[in-house]
Amino acid sequence: MNGGAAQDAAQRLRAQAIEKTREMTRVPLMGASGTRLLDLSRENPDNVNLSEVDRLISHDPALASKVLRVANSTYYSMRQEVTTVRQGIMTIGLHDLMSLVVVTSLMDRFKGASPVKSLDPVQFWMHSVAVGSAAKVGASYCAASYLAPGEVGVAALLHDIGKGLFIRFFAEEYDDVVLAAAEDGRPLEEVEAETFGISHDELGGMLAAEWKLPEFIGQVAAHHHRPREAERTYHDVVALVSWANSFVKREGIGNSGNAYYPPAEEISALSPSGDGSAKPSVGKALEPRRGEIVKAIAGSLGTMADTINPTGETQEEIEEKAREDVARVRTEREGAAARASQKRRGLLGRLLDFFRI
Ligand SMILES: [Fe+2]
Repeated sequence: MNGGAAQDAAQRLRAQAIEKTREMTRVPLMGASGTRLLDLSRENPDNVNLSEVDRLISHDPALASKVLRVANSTYYSMRQEVTTVRQGIMTIGLHDLMSLVVVTSLMDRFKGASPVKSLDPVQFWMHSVAVGSAAKVGASYCAASYLAPGEVGVAALLHDIGKGLFIRFFAEEYDDVVLAAAEDGRPLEEVEAETFGISHDELGGMLAAEWKLPEFIGQVAAHHHRPREAERTYHDVVALVSWANSFVKREGIGNSGNAYYPPAEEISALSPSGDGSAKPSVGKALEPRRGEIVKAIAGSLGTMADTINPTGETQEEIEEKAREDVARVRTEREGAAARASQKRRGLLGRLLDFFRI
């Protein structure tokens, strides 16, 4: 495709992506109980009204059975059998409970997609859950003073929400984009912008706004790759999520389809307040707590295991499947390219014959 045609195609896809965003957000992200739970996660964990959480979950049969199933899953199997929703909430903890509600709602909104072969959904969710967990722990040590750690965790869990739209409505094109970014070692958002005229961060900001999610969630979705461009009030939470995002990639947990991350020094130097004040940088505050953060991530992944990975595949099996899928896409694509060039040669040959050149 020449430059002009590529630009036209990108413009067309951009308009389609924005249209799909509006269409999809006509239905709220979460039901009434999920929205109220999100409000509750904004409170100090010590002040959360457990009876209200219990009432909200108990009134939602699907959620109640999920809480009981998770609380009795292998991950918690060392403990006593959990028979009431209240015990379930206490076993899982408010943050992981919120993650469970958000991820279940998102999976529901984005279901029906044909799979993007180069981006395994289990790996994608592992990445998102891990970033949510890392940012939540990070928030209890630095920055985001006006936000509760639970809020930071939810915003971090949703940071790549824009990718959901590409995956849901543009699976084929997105497959090429993810592969091209991986092969060329480039940031995914750059390749997205070239192909779609819009990247997942910009799209994520739009989705959050259309869904009327709290502003800090939209700021994180829109600026996690360029934290300095966030609104000043949200510099600290966005810096924290950017750090959590690159930390999780560095640790090799899950796969967001975007292998690129900025150099550690660049991210670590982000000041939580974004104003160059004397507060220690995000990296300085959190790098020494690696062990604690990795442990929290493992806990969240344990809680979410049967939601994000219902078939129970092991990490090795998932990676092997992803490698096979990528190899298959490549072979198919090379075959299609060879057939297209043969077709072109055939046509050229006939023309040359015709003009007897
Ligand atoms: Fe991202």
